[in-house]
Amino acid sequence: MAEWAVLQENEGRIHIVEIKDDMVKNKGLGVFNSATLLADISIGEEVLIGQKYLTRLPARLPELVAGMARRAQTISAKDAGAFITRLGIGEGDLVLEAGLGSGGLSLHLARVLGSNGHLMTVEPREEHAEIGLLNLERASSCFPSFPKHTHLSGMVEDVIPDEKFDAIILDLPDHTPAISACAERLAFGGRIACYAPSSSQLEKCWIACEDSGLNVEWAGELMEREWGRTSRGGMRPVNGPFGHTAFLLFAKKV
Ligand SMILES: C[S@@+](CC[C@H](N)C(=O)[O-])C[C@H]1O[C@@H](n2cnc3c(N)ncnc32)[C@H](O)[C@@H]1O
Repeated sequence: MAEWAVLQENEGRIHIVEIKDDMVKNKGLGVFNSATLLADISIGEEVLIGQKYLTRLPARLPELVAGMARRAQTISAKDAGAFITRLGIGEGDLVLEAGLGSGGLSLHLARVLGSNGHLMTVEPREEHAEIGLLNLERASSCFPSFPKHTHLSGMVEDVIPDEKFDAIILDLPDHTPAISACAERLAFGGRIACYAPSSSQLEKCWIACEDSGLNVEWAGELMEREWGRTSRGGMRPVNGPFGHTAFLLFAKKV
């Protein structure tokens, strides 16, 4: 299995570098032999690469997320945390996630499922799956424990296996066919969650869940507002976007 190192620039930018005994181009850093360069660099120590000093950090979830490869829009910590807690996901669960996309949510799920959990990911687009699977491969070599992972290629409504899932999360453009295919694959007491950027999508999710016999428990959005210290002392909300990510909906099989 490949090994990875996390390096942080003084300005905060994170790079995730594969440890390879070969001259390889590393995006944003240039061409170097990472095995030789990092052989004597421990966690907390600095290394000079080109003109940049970088500090080697432990490969924890926030660093893997900050340095992840990206293609499709990702789910961030704010919403991932709500999925994990409201779905009650933890050690040993069987969880289905569609679509995988860049694997932003998958990284958070993999961190809490433990070695007895099982994460199934589904993605129809090869070019998205390639990025999501790369991010999961990095995580599997960095996290102290990692669940069993199965990846299915295709639309979730076509490829969902005949299993009883503890939780199913759908982040895809057309939820209705996915919900009707997934509802019968939920274990009794299991929950489904939908991530819907627009209110019209949210309403369709609600209707599709009820049509499939699921009990909608909660729908809404989560607001996050960052605060910082001012130059004269005291604290206030920082300037910047107070934006919308997506609406979340949770429904239970009873
Ligand atoms: C916004 S991305 C998911 C991002 C992912 N949650 C993350 O945090 O990185 C949506 C993905 O759903 C995939 N998709 C679209 N329809 C799908 C379906 N019916 N079943 C499974 N995946 C689907 C798309 O190809 C796309 O990669």
